[in-house]
Amino acid sequence: MTTPAPPTAKIADMLGRPIRDLRISVTDRCNFRCTYCMPAEVYGERYHFLPREAILSYEEVARLARLFVDLGVTKLRITGGEPLVRQDVHLLAALLAEIPGVEDLTLTTNGYLLAEQAAALCDAGLRRITVSLDSLDPDVFGIMNGKGYGPESVLEGIAAAERAGFAPIKINAVIERGVNDQGALDLARRFKGTGHVVRFIEYMDVGNVNGWRRDQVVPSAELAERINAVFPIEPVAPNYTGEVAERWRFLDGEGEIGFISSVTQPFCRDCNRARLTPQGELVTCLFASTGTGLKEPLRSGESDADLRDRIAAVWRGRSDRYSELRGAAPVERGRKIEMFQVGG
Ligand code: GTP
Ligand code: 5AD
Ligand code: SF4
Ligand code: SF4
Repeated sequence: MTTPAPPTAKIADMLGRPIRDLRISVTDRCNFRCTYCMPAEVYGERYHFLPREAILSYEEVARLARLFVDLGVTKLRITGGEPLVRQDVHLLAALLAEIPGVEDLTLTTNGYLLAEQAAALCDAGLRRITVSLDSLDPDVFGIMNGKGYGPESVLEGIAAAERAGFAPIKINAVIERGVNDQGALDLARRFKGTGHVVRFIEYMDVGNVNGWRRDQVVPSAELAERINAVFPIEPVAPNYTGEVAERWRFLDGEGEIGFISSVTQPFCRDCNRARLTPQGELVTCLFASTGTGLKEPLRSGESDADLRDRIAAVWRGRSDRYSELRGAAPVERGRKIEMFQVGG
């Protein structure tokens, strides 16, 4: 059924940005209730997550992923919700690993179930992994993950990923002023010299429910200064155009850290990321209100060529640059998609 893409298939959006990175959310469910993403008071027992039949199968995801690769995507990231709560997600990793043209295949997880799945994921062909960990302090972490969980399971997950052969492992920490910013240095210290790369993320106004305020953001420049005062660091050139994290290295040679500064230094100009929701919507910005449904045409038998044209048309019409437009307050544009629906 797969038809080869025409050689001229590579596309750009209205701001000249190519499509390089596809972030695939495989579920809207999560075993955490992070205060900045899925606050427990909103997403309690009664919240209705997507039913099974509404979600793309792994085969459907893989078919779409191939079409994105035809159009220029070289990097795939599996996300959620929490991707490891979906059954046998390593089977999807295996399908994606087989796609010619995929240069980078990775997954972002909260790490809670990673210890038991790391080896299967690595065997399936996943090569990199990013684990979220906002604090090493059990009380602070417990509050932020909304479940009272301490960091032990996540640390075990990271250790298991290391044993399985993942390298480098990235550790993402969302930093909120007055909540976990005092622990940022501990995270830097803990992973310094391990080969893992801690990345500090500025708290963002994603979704509709976290009550974001600009004064809760710790600008990366401030955090870098605080870290530099204890562990001297210097900036490093990006690995590739459009890299989200700004890289810094420890002057003593003990590795790197990163800063993701989408509030104080937006990076929309080079944003080449497309997002696929669990129910098969193509979303062109983390701050979008809606996506374009691909499940319906996919399930009603549309050909690869037509599906590819459909995706290309959406990308060609893309002009998103939310973070560049955001000032001190969120941009008013109605309801936004939630982070757990698009996977960050
Ligand atoms: P590497 O490939 O390892 O460099 O990772 P990455 O930066 O592509 O992905 P990762 O999932 O680790 O991204 C880290 C975080 O940065 C995300 O979870 C988001 O919080 C944020 N982020 C990633 N992409 C975007 C984006 O396009 N826009 C904005 N505003 N934030 C983003
Ligand atoms: N601001 C910044 N980062 C966020 N993440 C989730 N919500 C937010 C937010 N409001 C991060 C998670 C994880 C990734 C998927 O997105 O911590 O690292
Ligand atoms: Fe779950 Fe990740 Fe959202 Fe936290 S940030 S609630 S781990 S999807
Ligand atoms: Fe890309 Fe939208 Fe993030 Fe800007 S705000 S970097 S366009 S996802």
